[in-house]
Amino acid sequence: MVSRVIPVDPFDLVIFGATGDLARRKILPGLFRRYCAGQMPEEARIIGAARSEMDDDGFRDLVREAVRKFGGGRDCSDEALEGFLAHVGYEHVDAMGEGGWETLKARLRDGMVRAFYFSVAPSLFGALAERLRGFGLADDDSRVVVEKPFGKDLASARALNSTLAEHFDETQIYRIDHYLGKETVQNLMAVRFGNMLFEPLWNAQFVDHIQITVAETVDVSGRGAYYDKSGAMRDMVQNHLMQLLCLIAMEPPARFEPDSVRDEKLKVIRALDPVDYHHIVRGQYIADEKQPGYRSHVEDPRSTTESFVAMKISISNWRWAGTPFYLRTGKALKSQASEIAVVFKDAPHSIFGPEAGRHANVLVIRLQPNEGMTLGVTIKEPGPGGMRLKDVALDMSFADALGPDAEDIPDAYERLIMDVIRGNQTLFMRGDEVEAAWTWTDPIIEGWQRRGEVPKEYDAGSSGPDDALMLMHRDGRKWRDIKA
Ligand code: BG6
Repeated sequence: MVSRVIPVDPFDLVIFGATGDLARRKILPGLFRRYCAGQMPEEARIIGAARSEMDDDGFRDLVREAVRKFGGGRDCSDEALEGFLAHVGYEHVDAMGEGGWETLKARLRDGMVRAFYFSVAPSLFGALAERLRGFGLADDDSRVVVEKPFGKDLASARALNSTLAEHFDETQIYRIDHYLGKETVQNLMAVRFGNMLFEPLWNAQFVDHIQITVAETVDVSGRGAYYDKSGAMRDMVQNHLMQLLCLIAMEPPARFEPDSVRDEKLKVIRALDPVDYHHIVRGQYIADEKQPGYRSHVEDPRSTTESFVAMKISISNWRWAGTPFYLRTGKALKSQASEIAVVFKDAPHSIFGPEAGRHANVLVIRLQPNEGMTLGVTIKEPGPGGMRLKDVALDMSFADALGPDAEDIPDAYERLIMDVIRGNQTLFMRGDEVEAAWTWTDPIIEGWQRRGEVPKEYDAGSSGPDDALMLMHRDGRKWRDIKA
């Protein structure tokens, strides 16, 4: 296979919070895999920066361990790892003080792309941005990358945006939602806008409803302190599910370019109706024989934070008025399965009579695992016995259809970091987009607080609370089974 890896320009990438969990799990192993793929130029440098006192070699040991634990790529050898480590250095920096900034600056070279990755708590964004400018490390061409959570409500997101805006232009700010870096999430756009087949039917006239499911088997153990303050609404819905919804619902952008795409996504978020609280189900998992319950994973034994949300939402625009979107996401569910199902309406009239039953086409886009697409179509049951109809699946897994190419796909972080170096903001969230998402989310969370709402219990390892099933049943519809 001819390599399609295009090397990026030489860069200096400084990772603040370089000894933290995200850096060790995702960022550093991801960079290593890009190195193995031949995408990283010889002059590239990665500089870890954090509070811990450590020298270059100490940090290289940490990176070596992280890569071994969290994965090099298929073609990555030990030799390659040593080669990669030659690009890596470390500077001890005091984010809130003066220490380390001058020496960090001395490491940066002119004529390189310069990017600063804030893999730290949002409360440090302001201090870092101020020092990067104050000590002259960043200029008008530098880029900053910020991680979620981007705020916990509209007010805090606005405050973060305005702090960053004091020091950087919007074109320099890369807000990560790693779902946008996933191959299959980008495929949503390819499926919709690269095919003539679907787009004419992609509207309320032909689509009965859309289901978006992001089900996880993992629970919140090990991150209870963060999660309990956040809950599924802030952790998953406000960002990841919202992005999926935008890509499924948006109008075709004129071009696959940052602002064209982000303008269209923003219009979707702004067209979302406020959600009636009868249309939301919050859940919290309780212990089953095999797994402990949510409350034993967090500090507060009476926590009412949700680990599951299901909701029915509507979009008030010409394309979607009248077509509900059902969203659900949760932890400690029975399978890991993320998918979007577009359920089309029944044919307007059955020429086969009532005994043929009702049949609707369903297009399922599986995001993970077993990425692929299935289109349910109706055919005649074979053999004699009259015109009996049957639904069958045209099923495609990307791995089967694309062969080895499907195995060489960079993970979300790899792709997004390379996009930062390339200066391409298409797959990053713009400030107004994040604020619009909070504008819609805030009243939902405030409503729960005001009403003192307690989440419904569901068994760990189940499909979520029964009330979530009712949310669909009431409308004469049914969730698809959560299965990997
Ligand atoms: C993160 C959330 O942003 O996304 C986690 O904080 C969640 O709670 C994770 O588990 C899911 O990401 P992925 O890539 O495993 O689907």
